[in-house]
Amino acid sequence: MSETPLWVQLANLLAAVLFILTLKGLSHPRTARRGVMLGALGAAIATVVVFFSGIPYKNLLIILIALVVGSVIGWIAAKRVAMTQMPQMVALFNGVGGGAAALVSIIEYLESGGENRAFLVATVFTVVIGSVSFSGSIVTFLKLQELITTRPVVLPGGKYITILVAAATVAAAVWLVIAPATWLLVTLLALALLFGILFVLPVGGADVPIVISLLNAFTGLSVAAGGYVLGNVLLIVAGTLVGASGTLLTKLMAEAMGRPLTGTLFGAFNASATAAGGPDGDRPVKSGSAQDVAIMLGYANKVILVPGYGLAVAQAQGTLRELAEELEAKGIEVDYAIHPVAGRMPGHMNVLLAEANVPYEQLKEMEEVNPEFADTDVALVVGANDVVNPAAKTDTSAPIYGMPILDVNNAKQVVFLKRSMRPGFAGITNELLYDPKTTLLFGDAKASLTDVVTAVKEV
Ligand code: TAP
Repeated sequence: MSETPLWVQLANLLAAVLFILTLKGLSHPRTARRGVMLGALGAAIATVVVFFSGIPYKNLLIILIALVVGSVIGWIAAKRVAMTQMPQMVALFNGVGGGAAALVSIIEYLESGGENRAFLVATVFTVVIGSVSFSGSIVTFLKLQELITTRPVVLPGGKYITILVAAATVAAAVWLVIAPATWLLVTLLALALLFGILFVLPVGGADVPIVISLLNAFTGLSVAAGGYVLGNVLLIVAGTLVGASGTLLTKLMAEAMGRPLTGTLFGAFNASATAAGGPDGDRPVKSGSAQDVAIMLGYANKVILVPGYGLAVAQAQGTLRELAEELEAKGIEVDYAIHPVAGRMPGHMNVLLAEANVPYEQLKEMEEVNPEFADTDVALVVGANDVVNPAAKTDTSAPIYGMPILDVNNAKQVVFLKRSMRPGFAGITNELLYDPKTTLLFGDAKASLTDVVTAVKEV
């Protein structure tokens, strides 16, 4: 390996420190924005360094075109994407990262002929993990965008096909290291891409974010191995950081969903059916007006607000804060109950409520708030469903069975703000909607909350 100039080493060190500070910043909502900016600065330094440290001139134009095209697509996509579609975008960008790492390793292999054994092992690793991450991420994107079904897809004999493809991938990888050949590399690429698809298809919609996080960790590892192939220390550092943080996030999310990671990934192979909750038919529910809800709230001593995905869709976070302030002005105790997987991405509700300047002290995590529901007069559920669905505790066939929930059903009265009787993300009935102590206020969350705020002022 040729000697790396000192200025390149120092710039790489600076970028690596910035990446570490990024992770530190991202660990708290208050510092997250600064963390993102530091990460962007680190990435910019890394790009500039590579650019000025030995790119062959014949490739300059094509690199510049790729930089411009990539930056424009990334900029427009990030500007346009709705907060609720963020996981899909993360999945897509993550997959492209894994795919890029795999492609770079393939090109290095074709140029060098793969004579060095350690280099070959790193190449094979990058191709396999990067390709799995690429095709798997595309499937997660299609699921979350609802371009294919969000339910687990189990092909006939799916378990055995997956095991077979996994075994063939490992065999091709070992063979390639022992006897390098381009046709073997192409076969390995195809097998790994196929395995990525088979790996993600059986995962149900509600578990997809966990898989995105896992694939993110995979991409990190493939980038780190790609760094070894290219002799680029910064790629090794950045890839390892992504691999480690992605692994931790995956573990935390699986815990929040209340089941081991193996259950999330392979549970569908063992389950006979995923549909839970009986058909709704024409079962009666108690619906009320904004005035009815305002009276309940206005005469309460303690109210807990439970935000969910629908709050993000309606962009009603500001109106929810307004309601909280009105109630507090009447001397009513108000808290927000935050479920770790409410919404569509980790920390979604924290981000949403921070946008509306809700004080952090009012946000209570699930473990802290659950014992308080029993003393609560009204639990106001705004656009949440799965995270308060008691089926997670009682119905062993429910896809969310085992997920800890907010114990909203312990409150004296429950109010749901939603538009219809449609279920939440997991696609299952919520018996709490039919409970005699539950009142439903139908309509878009923002419109409903606006009406409730007006009515509360008059109570
Ligand atoms: P969901 O269970 O998806 O329920 C959302 C509710 O919001 C639905 O009842 C829907 O009913 C209502 N809604 C939608 N748009 C609305 C609007 N404009 N105004 C009023 N209501 C509206 O949400 P949740 O309770 O937050 O649970 C999250 C689910 O997503 C979990 O299953 C979780 O596993 C999954 N998930 C989580 C993440 C992460 S990491 N947070 C990522 C992906 C998936 P209507 O249609 O009748 O209005």
